[in-house]
Amino acid sequence: MRLSQRMARLGTETAFEVLVRARALEAQGRNIVHLEIGEPDFDTPAHIRAAANDALANGATHYGPSAGIPELREAIAEDSARRRGAKATPEMVVVTPGGKPIMFFVILALVDEGDEVLYPNPGFPIYESMIRYIGGKPVPVRLLEEKGFELDVDQLCEQVGPKTRLIILNYPHNPTGGTIPEAGLRAIANVAAKHGVPILSDEIYSRLLYEGEHKSIAAMPGMEPLAIVLDGFSKTFAMTGWRLGYGVMPAPMAQVVAKLQTNATSCTATFTQLAGVAALRGDQSSVAAMNVEFKRRRDAIVEGLRAIPGFGCARPKGAFYVFPNITRTGFGSKALADRLLDEAGVACLSGTAFGEFGEGHLRFSYANSMENIQEALRRIEGLLRKS
Ligand SMILES: Cc1ncc(COP(=O)(O)O)c(C=O)c1O
Repeated sequence: MRLSQRMARLGTETAFEVLVRARALEAQGRNIVHLEIGEPDFDTPAHIRAAANDALANGATHYGPSAGIPELREAIAEDSARRRGAKATPEMVVVTPGGKPIMFFVILALVDEGDEVLYPNPGFPIYESMIRYIGGKPVPVRLLEEKGFELDVDQLCEQVGPKTRLIILNYPHNPTGGTIPEAGLRAIANVAAKHGVPILSDEIYSRLLYEGEHKSIAAMPGMEPLAIVLDGFSKTFAMTGWRLGYGVMPAPMAQVVAKLQTNATSCTATFTQLAGVAALRGDQSSVAAMNVEFKRRRDAIVEGLRAIPGFGCARPKGAFYVFPNITRTGFGSKALADRLLDEAGVACLSGTAFGEFGEGHLRFSYANSMENIQEALRRIEGLLRKS
């Protein structure tokens, strides 16, 4: 079959490819420690699973509205307004199968051929993939490693111009765990408001923050008509496989995004949405407990990596990733990631899986047990001592 020309511009998320390679090695009898994929190793809390079971038993097995069922849109609006301190009403919410479709739909809805989109690099690879696929021009904004991977706000503000159609932010950030301080968010909000540029604020890790308090750009002055917040249930409630996420945006934009959803998937599964209501309205203690455990693992992996010859490692403030600098090992990022998998049985990602500015780094997800993290550290150290 002859593919459309635009398919040559589509990128991917390497984590899924490495997962397949790691599983193939396991099928050959190898033992692999999985630090490649970004998903909590915890089970979804019992009361959320019970809500889905009840929903199925009560017949929530039919199509629902494209923008999401009213109960969940209402619960999301309440949660978002409370946590972010920004206006959020049910009409501003679109529920999607995971947060990812919000990226695709928003870029599709706003970006014409040749339009510039500013995005973090290194960053979640789907941003650049989607910008290119749609024919936009990706304009990378660097992160400052020396400042714990804060986004270079000065560079971003300088790059906003007449062709800028969208700014994508992600904080806490994948793959570095960095955040954007409030002053930086204010500066970005000012420049975006001045030029009338919408902001896609990916806050999927907003409840996985180990230092300080999450502030959303949606709450900054001038942002009400411009902010589109992406969030979801995958990371906060250990619900990656459920495929449940959402966007909160100005109501007219929500109608556009819902229309794209009608075209793409019709709607999000109804019984998972009822589980989402239970997640937001029910007991939150499991979220706090998971965060305590993630913080403990973060500290262990940062200390462990810092002790490995040639590794330097910033202490991330949020999410569940570390992004050590490996330039002093003498290896390129991809070469070292490949050797770690093939020779040491540690699956991780090359920094370059997150864009050109990821060279010189690896990404490890610490959403795995302390025991597995310690085993991975032993194996990494063993490989480097031997090389
Ligand atoms: C930065 C970022 N945004 C969005 C997502 C999408 O998550 P989901 O589609 O599972 O809600 C991910 C998942 O890894 C992510 O890392």
